[in-house]
Amino acid sequence: MSVQRRYLTEQDCEVSQYIAGFWRQTAWQFNDSELQAYIENLLDIGVTTMDHGFVYQSEAQFGRVLKNAPSLRDRMEIIGKFGIRPIDYGDLGAHTINHYDNSADYLQQSVERSLTDLNVDHLDILLVHRPDYLMHAQSLAEGFARLKDQGKVRHFGVSNFSPSQFELLQSCCDMPLVTNQIEFSPLCLNPLNDGTLDQCQQIGMNPSYWSCLGGGRMLTGTHERDVRVRNSLRIVADELGAESLEQVIYAWVMRVPCGGLPILGSSNIERIKKAIGQAPVLINREQWYAILEASTGARVL
Ligand SMILES: NC(=O)c1ccc[n+]([C@@H]2O[C@H](COP(=O)([O-])OP(=O)(O)OC[C@H]3O[C@@H](n4cnc5c(N)ncnc54)[C@H](OP(=O)(O)O)[C@@H]3O)[C@@H](O)[C@H]2O)c1
Repeated sequence: MSVQRRYLTEQDCEVSQYIAGFWRQTAWQFNDSELQAYIENLLDIGVTTMDHGFVYQSEAQFGRVLKNAPSLRDRMEIIGKFGIRPIDYGDLGAHTINHYDNSADYLQQSVERSLTDLNVDHLDILLVHRPDYLMHAQSLAEGFARLKDQGKVRHFGVSNFSPSQFELLQSCCDMPLVTNQIEFSPLCLNPLNDGTLDQCQQIGMNPSYWSCLGGGRMLTGTHERDVRVRNSLRIVADELGAESLEQVIYAWVMRVPCGGLPILGSSNIERIKKAIGQAPVLINREQWYAILEASTGARVL
């Protein structure tokens, strides 16, 4: 098994083709040694890019592992996110309603808190977690430049941005935004139709994809659409001799020609190994469209 390396826009922004996501980390209920073993297993198979978010509440435990085993830091890239402010995170300023805050002040506070919790001196990539309708793009871009000058963040990107929101922020930044992290899977087709993936291809920017397995629904869901998609995945998996349905799902999202990077969400290393597979499977055009048709429930005409 060899997980490929990718460069996001700039030659010094190197990540693994598959990214490990830590949104569900608290639900896994790993103790610190179990989390350390999980991270070491990921690194051993070549999944070196770790996706966190301030709001995931994953950073403090991850940081304890890095404190206990500092050499792990040199083997990984860390993605952080900022901008979602739920009410139960009142320690960064009292507030009473969930909201988004992409202000430069909150950016600075949130990143400093993430660095402290993670026990690291820099984030490799920082993403704006969600578009904030009150975002002042120029002032956010100046906040990015300050963090870069301070050596606290190396690269910046966005998540869940529309093409026009991306363009606006990019127009204010001197450095390229390195990714747009979006939901994309056979159960979430929006980026194919709303211009998001067109933009990625046009400007040569690699998107990253969250919930490629629909949060597990594609493997276990009982709704008619889940079952339809799963049945079509089974047919394609048999045709390709794939190691798992997940491997077909990742091949399906990566087949769109814009260099997308799937984010893994499983706590189970054996599942992850079978999802990545010993060798890549190449899904052909007809197989890709068969899965699309299973998702939409309509013939392509
Ligand atoms: N930017 C954003 O707004 C945003 C939003 C959501 C997520 N994300 C990122 O994307 C990452 C991945 O998202 P996700 O966790 O929703 O990804 P996902 O891969 O779609 O879902 C992961 C879930 O599927 C289950 N699963 C995997 N394989 C399975 C199988 N064969 N049978 C049954 N269940 C299976 C996993 O359970 P097991 O653990 O038991 O395998 C886990 O609960 C997150 O961790 C986060 O980093 C970003």
